[in-house]
Amino acid sequence: MYEKKTALSGALMLLTLLVPSTAALAQHSPFSSDSEQRARALLKQMNLDEKVGQLTEAAGIVMPGLATEKPDNAIAQGKVGSVLWLIDVKEINRLQHIAVEKSRLHIPILFGFDVIHGYRTVFPVPLGMASSWDPSVEEQAQKLAGEDARAAGIQLTFTPMVDIARDKRWGRIVEGAGEDPYLGAAMARAQVRGFQGDKLGPNSVSVCVKHYGGYGAAEGGRDYDASYIPEELFRNVYLPPFRAAADEGAGSFMSAYMDLNDVPASGNHWLLTDVLRGEVGFKGFVLSDAFAVGSLVTHGYAADPSDAAYKAITAGLDMDMASGTYMNNLAKLVSDGKVPMATIDAAVLPILALKYQLGLFDNPYVDESKVDQTLSRPEGLALERKLAARSMVLLKNENHTLPLAKNLKKVAVIGPLADSVHDIEGGWTVEGLFGSGSKSHPVTVLAGIKAALEPDAQITTVAGPEPSKSFLGLLDQFSGKKVLPPPTPEETADWLKKTREAAEAADVVIAVMGETSGMSSEASSRARLDLPGIQEQMLETAVASGKPVVLVLENGRPLDIHWAAEHVPAILETWFPGTEGGSATADVLFGDINPGGHLPVSWPRSSGQEPLYYNHNLTHEPEDRPNFTSRYWDISSKPQYPFGYGLSYTTFKFDNLKLSKTSIKAGEATEATVDVTNTGSVAGDAVAQVYIHQRYGSASRPVRQLEGFRRVALKPGETQTLTFPLGKNELQFWSPQTKVWAVEPSTFDVWAGEDSTAPLHAELTVTR
Ligand code: BGC
Repeated sequence: MYEKKTALSGALMLLTLLVPSTAALAQHSPFSSDSEQRARALLKQMNLDEKVGQLTEAAGIVMPGLATEKPDNAIAQGKVGSVLWLIDVKEINRLQHIAVEKSRLHIPILFGFDVIHGYRTVFPVPLGMASSWDPSVEEQAQKLAGEDARAAGIQLTFTPMVDIARDKRWGRIVEGAGEDPYLGAAMARAQVRGFQGDKLGPNSVSVCVKHYGGYGAAEGGRDYDASYIPEELFRNVYLPPFRAAADEGAGSFMSAYMDLNDVPASGNHWLLTDVLRGEVGFKGFVLSDAFAVGSLVTHGYAADPSDAAYKAITAGLDMDMASGTYMNNLAKLVSDGKVPMATIDAAVLPILALKYQLGLFDNPYVDESKVDQTLSRPEGLALERKLAARSMVLLKNENHTLPLAKNLKKVAVIGPLADSVHDIEGGWTVEGLFGSGSKSHPVTVLAGIKAALEPDAQITTVAGPEPSKSFLGLLDQFSGKKVLPPPTPEETADWLKKTREAAEAADVVIAVMGETSGMSSEASSRARLDLPGIQEQMLETAVASGKPVVLVLENGRPLDIHWAAEHVPAILETWFPGTEGGSATADVLFGDINPGGHLPVSWPRSSGQEPLYYNHNLTHEPEDRPNFTSRYWDISSKPQYPFGYGLSYTTFKFDNLKLSKTSIKAGEATEATVDVTNTGSVAGDAVAQVYIHQRYGSASRPVRQLEGFRRVALKPGETQTLTFPLGKNELQFWSPQTKVWAVEPSTFDVWAGEDSTAPLHAELTVTR
């Protein structure tokens, strides 16, 4: 699945010299003053090589062509401060013993790994967890993942990925919270709290917030491609989740691979120093993405590795992940007088402070005897099942097709993902990442359905052609070669015949379809968003049988399902729901759990609409005017399903939207209240959402932008009155004309409801 060589297409560049003052470490710092003081005292004892060592993160495994030997010697000489891509606890302890016992100053190693959505217990992919519209889902999942990781010797996780993604072709959309800065910021904060707790300490894991910044705006949705983001868009849309994570006390940030406005992010002084340190006030350290310092040469930004090291360190990049560029060049740059020692000291200090803060000096080793037991805690699986169901989105449910009865006697389960153990957990799993082998036992959707139905139920399965990494004849993403031939016409005809027969003989057809886990992730962009292979043909065949069909989607991004949206009566989006994903899917399909997730992205009708996002500006001919309902000849320019959309087995009514004050001065606050009532006959969760629009001012503002949300559980007939503040935080924006954050005098539209098209409206006047 994931191959490190893809990381080589990183980048670099830039200029001036801004040394963060060490005194500034106190404000919003992830570290206590004690950790800082101890770090300063240790720094005084260090020689230049040892300092550069702390700025070096080395691969803990041998990777052909990239990391040719284990880092033992370098660690013994104090030339490595952090090690990544290692999860073998014996090996972690072995390397730690070398660092603590053999290096001159006995400074422990910080071990980093991608613990993205769980360790052995794999939670839903982040896009799925964001669909819960419940930040506590992320917090609970990452708390458990952090406890597991720490027990297994990992103290730094390359999570959360908070990149705003407006283009569904971009494969890494699966790793984040979707397209919205407000929702993204809430999910970012929750993940930092989950891993780090209230304060970083001996039992927590430091986050590394990535990929700073603007990585999600890759042109054409092609991973690693350049991003061109005007400053106002960067500040108003791309920056907020990063700022939120820093405000929450994030220990570290990761610089991104791509060019941002022609300056590679990993050598971009404006990004890493002016904005991150100067404006956001971030006090942790910045780690490069893998090989990104070295790749500044590949980008055509640095002349050679020495220039790359110079441009990165002076831009504000503290630690070099895996490229060895700092290790080989920084000391000379300092002794030649090109890089001041103060710059090196400012970079080393937060790394040492983090090691103290995490208690690594006091307790550097892993208790190997407890690891397996911790990673296999049954409460982890129970939590996973609950959070997975909470993350699912019911997209369509005509004629109450769902929930299904548990006493169904004949069920056809079709589709290549129905029993795919490999796919249900999604990509970026810790034990799956370097082929070390997953030790979890994922429950597939087929297994979940079997467990839910009575023992005498007849279940017929038609898988279709085998899903593989490259799914049914698509190009291998790395070699460009076809690795699995598509089915022949005869094979296709045979699968469709089997599908027809199974559907005709069944009471209900459950089609489990989508993408393989490897199709969305790093270097996994797609130009087409359709259901790959012969899945759509199988689906059409099943529907033609006249039997009720339920489409269960497993995928890392919204797909082009416009045919299904019209013809399939029920559609449930499960994303990649994790280890207990099949049980959770059955919980929802059979009504033990009422789905309450909503979309964190606008769902396109076709990839040709991308990038498609709800918070675009009005134009001179807004789309609701009679003759301008569509910008395309061939399809509507509206999404298939709007941002914030999601159904339930019950229905909700929103009314009485009121503002406590309908006119305020800029800087003051008002409150919006709205009544939400469960108007159906079963209990369910509503996701109340508040949107605003500023009608005029110093710049055009989005047609709508989310500024408040809450997921609430309501019994049948129950009403809750919800209150949302509307003050400076919600009303301000950064204007390209004034170049400041401000609330401007204007008229604001306010809407409340269950998605971004909510009609319930109020009006707010803001005066000077
Ligand atoms: C990815 C990062 C990841 C890093 C370490 C890179 O290729 O872009 O997201 O954290 O590798 O595995």
